[in-house]
Amino acid sequence: METPPRPSRPIAPTIFAPVPELDTVGYDRMARDVRSLLGIDLTQYKPAQVWRRVNGFATAKGLASPDALVARCKQDADLRQAFLDMLTINVSEFFRNPEAWEAMATQFLRPALLQQLSVRVWSAGCSLGYEPLTIAMLAREIAPSKPISILGTDLDDTTLARARKATYTEQQMAGVSPARRARFFRQVGANWEAKPELQALISWRRHDLLKDPYEKPFDIICCRNVVIYFTEQAKTELYKRFGDSLKPGGVLFLGATESIPNVRAVGLVPSGLTFYRKP
Ligand SMILES: C[S@@+](CC[C@H](N)C(=O)[O-])C[C@H]1O[C@@H](n2cnc3c(N)ncnc32)[C@H](O)[C@@H]1O
Repeated sequence: METPPRPSRPIAPTIFAPVPELDTVGYDRMARDVRSLLGIDLTQYKPAQVWRRVNGFATAKGLASPDALVARCKQDADLRQAFLDMLTINVSEFFRNPEAWEAMATQFLRPALLQQLSVRVWSAGCSLGYEPLTIAMLAREIAPSKPISILGTDLDDTTLARARKATYTEQQMAGVSPARRARFFRQVGANWEAKPELQALISWRRHDLLKDPYEKPFDIICCRNVVIYFTEQAKTELYKRFGDSLKPGGVLFLGATESIPNVRAVGLVPSGLTFYRKP
């Protein structure tokens, strides 16, 4: 007896969908729309990667093309926010790459706190505030009463509004040990809120690294996992501007997979792991 044919299963589109080839005219049109819709300058991002991600996002939302996505975003505020979140990727966590934070604390933060009257740190692209709060916790462990001011900036207003609340779910608190939770947070229902004394060390501001003037001077600048999709030219310009914003001897702290290839051209020197010093 012949076995009946098995019902065919749909092929998962995320696995087999062809990677869309970059359509430069379509990309330029989308970049113009995204600039007026979200205020982001996509001309300074790597087009092939952005095009692939936007097409994937449009498909996931059941839309046929980036044009259709942009048209829908004009009417749908939730989709517009989701599109912004996708473009800016606000994934983050407390003590992200713990070994790098250990090195940051012992090699840079501790000497600065012990040797200087006060310390100024900038977390550029701070997402939901994990990074500024990580710095604040480390600073208070090293020197409980030493003046330190931490500036947390991000392009995304919605993200910043959440960072200002400094309230995190159990899952978001994964990187924070029980001892640190007890010392620096208080439990509010099922969530954890950073204590006022920790929050008082941080000021939050909206800032676009590609457009806005950079404040100065800082002892430490953290810019981690923010510029991954920026063009090489945009990155070089940005690293030069960070160099200009650092005090002599100050340090730039990048993400675990990031590096500055033409480091001398931007006026910095490598200082182990993903740290770059201003001579
Ligand atoms: C992946 S998160 C990184 C968060 C944190 N620095 C970390 O390493 O965990 C990237 C953040 O950079 C922000 N961002 C992206 N483009 C930016 C820009 N041009 N200026 C400022 N912030 C930007 C995003 O909104 C997002 O919150």
